[in-house]
Amino acid sequence: MDDPDAMDGLEVTGCERCPALVESRSQIVNGVGEPDAELLFVGEAPGAQEDREGEPFVGRSGDVLTEALGERGVAREEIRITNCVRCRPPENRDPHVEELENCRPYLECEIDRVDPDLIVTLGKVPSEHLLDRSVAVTKEAGSVHDVRIADTSRRLLVSVHPAATLYDRSQEETFAAALDEAVSLAGVRSEGGGGGDDQSRLGEF
Ligand code: URA
Repeated sequence: MDDPDAMDGLEVTGCERCPALVESRSQIVNGVGEPDAELLFVGEAPGAQEDREGEPFVGRSGDVLTEALGERGVAREEIRITNCVRCRPPENRDPHVEELENCRPYLECEIDRVDPDLIVTLGKVPSEHLLDRSVAVTKEAGSVHDVRIADTSRRLLVSVHPAATLYDRSQEETFAAALDEAVSLAGVRSEGGGGGDDQSRLGEF
């Protein structure tokens, strides 16, 4: 899928497809990072801080993600990070199906243009959205799937959302194992590096 209206390169500008989100957002939060990244992380939707700063994963869950990447020798700038939905839902509710569908062409376009070796879905919403089925994220974290996205076969790895580690310490290991797998599959490791299923409302973090 290419050229959804209002997409300039990898940036969406001025989209008004979702009236409730146009109301709740202060700005559109586009993906960030390397435009040719081998690793593309896909989250759910911007939270409050992302909405303020105009960048995905800059709140507490972003800190978890950035730190976990750093521990594996991967800088945030080397990879790409985006969301299924680019506008903050009111009160951090989950995006509605029609909002996910409205934003899908932008995500597909970004995936197409970045052409990553591996897509990592962070949490239930992006995992279910891209795999098009229900996903028990904690159970399936670390699993790798071939999935067709916009007529192209893509490799996708399921991960728990980084915010899950903030309210359930037992998810730390699950998240760490998924990231280990992601970094190794995408071959992005540079020098250095070491080492419940409630995945909704994670934008709060
Ligand atoms: N949670 C997400 O899913 N995306 C963000 O950008 C921030 C928090």
